[in-house]
Amino acid sequence: MAKSISLTRYLVEQQRVDGLIPSQLRLLLEVVARACKSISHAVNKGALGGVLGTANSENVQGEIQKKLDIIANEVLIEANEWGGHLAAMASEEMDGIYLVPNRYPQGEYLLLFDPLDGSSNIDVNVSIGTIFSVLKKPDGDRGVEEGDFLQPGHQQVAAGYCVYGPQTTLVLTVGDGVAMFTLDREQGSFVLTEENVRIPEDTKEFAINMSNMRHWDEPVKRYIDECLQGKEGPRGKDFNMRWIASMVADVHRILTRGGVFMYPWDKREPNKPGKLRLMYEANPMGWLVEQAGGAATNGKQRILDIQPTQLHERVSVILGSKNEVDRVTSYHSTL
Ligand code: AHG
Ligand code: MN
Ligand code: MN
Repeated sequence: MAKSISLTRYLVEQQRVDGLIPSQLRLLLEVVARACKSISHAVNKGALGGVLGTANSENVQGEIQKKLDIIANEVLIEANEWGGHLAAMASEEMDGIYLVPNRYPQGEYLLLFDPLDGSSNIDVNVSIGTIFSVLKKPDGDRGVEEGDFLQPGHQQVAAGYCVYGPQTTLVLTVGDGVAMFTLDREQGSFVLTEENVRIPEDTKEFAINMSNMRHWDEPVKRYIDECLQGKEGPRGKDFNMRWIASMVADVHRILTRGGVFMYPWDKREPNKPGKLRLMYEANPMGWLVEQAGGAATNGKQRILDIQPTQLHERVSVILGSKNEVDRVTSYHSTL
């Protein structure tokens, strides 16, 4: 039987062979993976660990926090603050940036995360996850400021997510394709289970919250309407729909078998560009999808080229199988 390759070995070999992973970045990714392991254990305990339910607090975006949102946030901070690889962190669950305390050495990386994605699925035992993005701190000796995080997604040096589903799977890119690692609970380590992940360019599957249809813009309405017409319509084929309401789980399905995922701008809150957050949801997922041969746009522009202006900025998201994303994007320029 072929030897199993742990995440540690994979990262060491990437560092050695491709020089893609400096040692501080390798340490950072190992620490994030360790934090995900511990979040996975908390998720698995569920009611037995007293982790279900709401926490009686709101985050900066006005969303009610779940207990696990807060636990996952704390696990990620505690795991990452002392190792010397980071200068600062930012999270969906914290208003401002979190500077590594002075008592610890400062590293050269910035870490952003959505500690628990798919919060509405926690209590109903449906897949949820953690999303993360790593940026380089701009050069210079001054302290880190929020503005240092406002880098377009194409400047990410690593990105990934961990999905807590029937299996716990960590999915990672450092700019050299996408690799998947499954948590082996007996060994306590992530084991490489898929390399060079590729998203098929064509698909018959779309993911969108259909209950918002009446609020969508014309290009998205047109695209979905054509899919719904199936074999008899202009697309000449039947489509299937999936909506898990955890971006992590929807993107994981797309990386596994293709599909297109959309959370577009809609008229409910016309001043917000969308629901999902650019810095710690759309950018890392957009890069992973591109690295697997897919595409990610906001309907008008590549997600990774958007210049962020705020830490918690929102964005319209269309990502997945390349030909479908190109089609939806082209509808935005013709309508
Ligand atoms: P979060 O739990 O981190 O706030 O993110 C939830 C997001 C995303 O994961 C999912 O695709 C979407 O919200 C679901 O939204 P609806 O409940 O509107 O379907
Ligand atoms: Mn989220
Ligand atoms: Mn979240």
